[in-house]
Amino acid sequence: MFKCWSQRSVTLCGLVLLSVALTACAQMPSARPAALAPTEVRIQAPTVNEAGRYFILLGGCNDCHTPGWEQSGGQMPESEWLTGGRIGYRGPWGTTYASNLRLFVQRVTEDQWVEMFRTREGRPPMPWMNYRTINESDLRAAYRFIRDLGPKGEEAPAFVPPDQKPVTPYLFFVPRMPNE
Ligand code: HEC
Repeated sequence: MFKCWSQRSVTLCGLVLLSVALTACAQMPSARPAALAPTEVRIQAPTVNEAGRYFILLGGCNDCHTPGWEQSGGQMPESEWLTGGRIGYRGPWGTTYASNLRLFVQRVTEDQWVEMFRTREGRPPMPWMNYRTINESDLRAAYRFIRDLGPKGEEAPAFVPPDQKPVTPYLFFVPRMPNE
């Protein structure tokens, strides 16, 4: 009986001592004063994806390649970007649709993508001529950014030649006189 009580007392005593020690420790000034602690300097270089995102935004790619971009005031989540247009652009060239770039980048290599922007004689209203001189590094960053978004959505409708009528809604790109 006594032995048992004594054992408990030793345990209790030990706990009390431990908590006193811990409290004292917590109040002791730290071995290395905060002021002298080495400062952590983090230099964060912009990643390729940030460059790609910036380029896509500035290049206006979402204007045509992201359905609903205009209506959302540019507030659509990145997961919805560049999935291709369903509304045609009809003019003397026929009817074009802004391609689904999320699927397109799955089919072409990065080098083919760069080459295409240098050489392709595409149809309006994609401003191919404006993009002819884009830096190669920007083009590569854009490609990787789109690849990282992952495939999404369906292919945009196929090009319709000028002598055929599109079966989707379309915007008509023909100048009109004020009295027409
Ligand atoms: C004013 C509308 C418009 C803008 C802005 C625009 N595009 Fe396009 N884009 C189109 C249309 C329409 C097509 C299809 C025309 C064609 O095939 O030549 C197209 C085609 C493409 C294609 C060819 C894909 C294929 O299926 O062969 C690529 C790649 C592309 N656009 C990338 C971009 C990128 C990147 C940007 C931004 C830097 C951009 N586009 C901006 C309308 C646009």
